[in-house]
Amino acid sequence: MAMKTVVFANQKGGIGKTTTSRHQFWHFEEKGLRTLGIDLDIQGNFTRSLLNMAAENGIALPLDDFGRPALPETALRASGLFDVENKDQPLQVGKNTFLIGADAGMLDVERADLDEVVKAGQQRFKELADDYDVAVIDTGPSVSGLLVVALSIADFAVSPCKPDRDAIEGLMGFFTNVRRVAERGTNPRLASLGVLPNQIDRKRAFHRSTLDEMRQNWGDGVLPVELPERAAIDVAKDRPVWRTEAGTVSRSVAAKEMMAVCACISNRMGL
Ligand SMILES: Nc1ncnc2c1ncn2[C@@H]1O[C@H](COP(=O)(O)OP(=O)(O)OP(=O)(O)O)[C@@H](O)[C@H]1O
Ligand SMILES: [Mg+2]
Repeated sequence: MAMKTVVFANQKGGIGKTTTSRHQFWHFEEKGLRTLGIDLDIQGNFTRSLLNMAAENGIALPLDDFGRPALPETALRASGLFDVENKDQPLQVGKNTFLIGADAGMLDVERADLDEVVKAGQQRFKELADDYDVAVIDTGPSVSGLLVVALSIADFAVSPCKPDRDAIEGLMGFFTNVRRVAERGTNPRLASLGVLPNQIDRKRAFHRSTLDEMRQNWGDGVLPVELPERAAIDVAKDRPVWRTEAGTVSRSVAAKEMMAVCACISNRMGL
């Protein structure tokens, strides 16, 4: 099977990119797919979760200055993905799961010539594609070269978004970037799967009306699922909400909702 790659992107910060990236990654893992997680956000939140998971899986890792599991020297880091000479391999974090973690070298990638970076990224990514079934890319907030690069190597894009004017504004910028990548001819394969409404509070009239408006105006551009604001999702950072301790009603509802979102995305990717 040729590797299929999904990127979670919206240049607005704090709207659920990492939360959905993690859960999609765990969903693919549980489907038995050989899954690669790629963290293109220098904040490294996705990397942290997968390193903690690796440590829990009994994988020996060096510790950083704070005593937390860290990327071994030899593991392929995100910046290495844009260097054609680099031959490092992703870190194994579970039985069938792998990580290309975020690193400070991404700041240099950010400053380099974008066309060169895209070319190198596409070449390196092609080399990796034979070894995995699926890849999940988490991206950072802000309009950056790394976002354009992520869109240049992915097959599918999903854009989590809160029902908030500033977040929707970020979405407009995101759509512009998707169009630019398509127009530049850098990645004709890229398909936008749509906006994923996140942190919805159905008790709030503003959330309901904003969501209705988004669905009316954008039709298929909005996925037919949504994620409510749930405490159980907020704390599920090192394992999926459906594998956190059972017991509360909100946790089991949140688990079902998150599973439905992951299954919907997976379906639309043809998996
Ligand atoms: N559906 C949800 N219910 C409850 N909390 C959520 C939900 N979605 C996201 N959060 C919380 O909101 C915060 C921001 O989410 P997340 O880190 O996924 O956003 P992000 O888009 O990746 O942010 P950044 O742009 O900084 O990378 C986190 O604390 C996360 O746990
Ligand atoms: Mg994030």
